[in-house]
Amino acid sequence: MAEPKKLFIKTYGCQMNVYDSERMAEAMGGEGYVRTERPEDADMILLNTCHIREKAAEKVYSELGRFRPLKAEKPDLKIGVAGCVAQAEGAEIMARQPLVDLVVGPQSYHRLPELTAKATAGEKALDTDFPEEDKFEHLKSRPRVKRGPTAFLTVQEGCDKFCAFCVVPYTRGAEVSRPADRVIAEARDLVERGVREITLLGQNVNAYHGHEGGLAGLIRDLAGIDGLERIRFTTSHPNDMDDALIAAHGEVEKLMPYLHLPVQAGSDRILKAMNRKHTAEAYIRLIERIRAARPDLLLSGDFIVGFPGETEADFQATLDLVETVGYGQAYSFKYSPRPGTPAAEKAHVDAAEADARLQRLQALLNRQQKAAQDAMVGRDVHVLFEKPGRLPGQMVGKSEYLHAVHADADDVTMGDIRKVRIVRSNSNSLAGEILWA
Ligand code: 5AD
Ligand code: SF4
Repeated sequence: MAEPKKLFIKTYGCQMNVYDSERMAEAMGGEGYVRTERPEDADMILLNTCHIREKAAEKVYSELGRFRPLKAEKPDLKIGVAGCVAQAEGAEIMARQPLVDLVVGPQSYHRLPELTAKATAGEKALDTDFPEEDKFEHLKSRPRVKRGPTAFLTVQEGCDKFCAFCVVPYTRGAEVSRPADRVIAEARDLVERGVREITLLGQNVNAYHGHEGGLAGLIRDLAGIDGLERIRFTTSHPNDMDDALIAAHGEVEKLMPYLHLPVQAGSDRILKAMNRKHTAEAYIRLIERIRAARPDLLLSGDFIVGFPGETEADFQATLDLVETVGYGQAYSFKYSPRPGTPAAEKAHVDAAEADARLQRLQALLNRQQKAAQDAMVGRDVHVLFEKPGRLPGQMVGKSEYLHAVHADADDVTMGDIRKVRIVRSNSNSLAGEILWA
């Protein structure tokens, strides 16, 4: 039998790209490709890219340059760019980097086999359409392979919110939800293959409308699947956090007490300029309601500093909001102007000032994060064990609150959920002891 062809995929950016990379690998599996972790062994290299900030987009070009010697050695090697840079820059990529044989936007992955055939015939292949058909339905499945205990499942893509800084509405297009029955069928399939925790993904996942009960309805249906033990979802917009979803946080046991709910800024003037369509006060009230439903919820957020027009007073309002809310986890970024977005036209905050603000915000967020982690010491949590730890006999997994926890776990197998007492807080993880009671 001929050696299978090898596919190397490098994934940048968000979890939606991680999911897409898996689906692309499955689709190419149908074409006889197996995945490799080593680009030098590959017959095809795909970069699944991110366009959310300038740095992320620039990385792609430097990475592509590094493949030049590989292509020189192996002229049949196909190099493709997928994801949001592919969508945003299209044919420009091939002009700037002639090594590239194939460019495919996030809505066209089901056409990857055709595009590969075209590239193999020596033509440049490009597809950045927003086709009517559902790419997920048209993506071929690989023979059913066993999976690890956790998986992502994309249920919604695109965004209609048009925050003034964000490229997503342009790169991923309008908001589209996958029908609930297809999502549930895919979830069942994942569970049969060993998955115990599913994270539902969408750029605006809580705007999901593929179920008559919205995201909450979908979560309640998924909770009915035997063998599926944990459900999470990300990422959400405050304005789509409806009563049903808040109630689900209090009522659905399998829905984990962790919520990523970005606010971006704490000043109403900046929130308005960002087109977020809510105030800081409304966000704080919303958090109070969610915490009333699920008091132990660990809250995560995203923040942007140095948005055009942000003054020291505006920035102080962000710090105040963070103090008021209290985050267990957070991501913060310096504003990065994105071509084609409304904010990119505005006068920018001085770069050194924006850097200084980012540092101040990160110091506060890190303190909160550390405090939330330290507060777990002495508490009992449930850990879904995912992989061996660094020391022999150790396993690592995640608590309900998404903290990494390691423990001596001689007779624990991957995928087991065990009650664990937290005994120590390290810099990036918790140490625990398995309770046998
Ligand atoms: N500049 C900086 N950060 C951005 N984000 C989105 N667009 C930009 C931008 N132009 C951040 C937001 C979003 C996260 C995914 O990335 O905080 O929630
Ligand atoms: Fe971008 Fe999120 Fe705003 Fe949509 S809601 S435009 S994805 S930041």
